[in-house]
Amino acid sequence: MKVLIIFETVEGQTRKIVDAIEHQVRAAGHDVRHFDASDKLAALSFDGIDKVVLAAPVHERRHPEGFEVLVGTSLEELSARDTLLISVSLKAAFPEGLEEAQDYLVEMEMRTGFEPDKELLLAGAVRTASYGYFESQIVQNVALKGRKIELVDGVCEFTDWDALSRKVDAFLDL
Ligand SMILES: Cc1cc2nc3c(=O)[nH]c(=O)nc-3n(C[C@H](O)[C@H](O)[C@H](O)COP(=O)(O)O)c2cc1C
Repeated sequence: MKVLIIFETVEGQTRKIVDAIEHQVRAAGHDVRHFDASDKLAALSFDGIDKVVLAAPVHERRHPEGFEVLVGTSLEELSARDTLLISVSLKAAFPEGLEEAQDYLVEMEMRTGFEPDKELLLAGAVRTASYGYFESQIVQNVALKGRKIELVDGVCEFTDWDALSRKVDAFLDL
């Protein structure tokens, strides 16, 4: 089986998630390759691809515009394959934030017209080293709503790697 991962990342957590998925897909004996939606010079091909994983982070309540455009212009190719859409956000880290995390996904699906076979709301990370003043204010006051977190080497990771691994396993077995 050949799996394509289409992704975009801003601070790097979604890239780390993509690495973990690639490792898991390979370990299960399948072929996998990734496509970075922010790479404007690369051409996206679905040739020989059986399943597609799409992964993107939420910044200021939405997924990257370029990622959404790519999804919206690939509807025919995507609908012909099994698809798993992973939305990476901080709201997904807390039970009281899940409704809002789901809204981000619904809004993206409404804008692009894309309906994935499977979805996952996955918590991302706080990476203070890559924030300026504006970014740290948004993360602290909006995404975390003032919640105090403990940073280790400037990073606080909320990603549930076991939940990701279970979802990818189920997706490969579809
Ligand atoms: C400027 C900024 C805005 C953000 N806005 C949101 C938001 O509206 N909702 C949310 O749940 N998370 C928000 N986040 C958290 C990101 O989704 C989280 O840090 C994620 O891990 C980023 O993924 P990436 O490292 O792949 O870019 C924001 C982060 C930053 C830096």
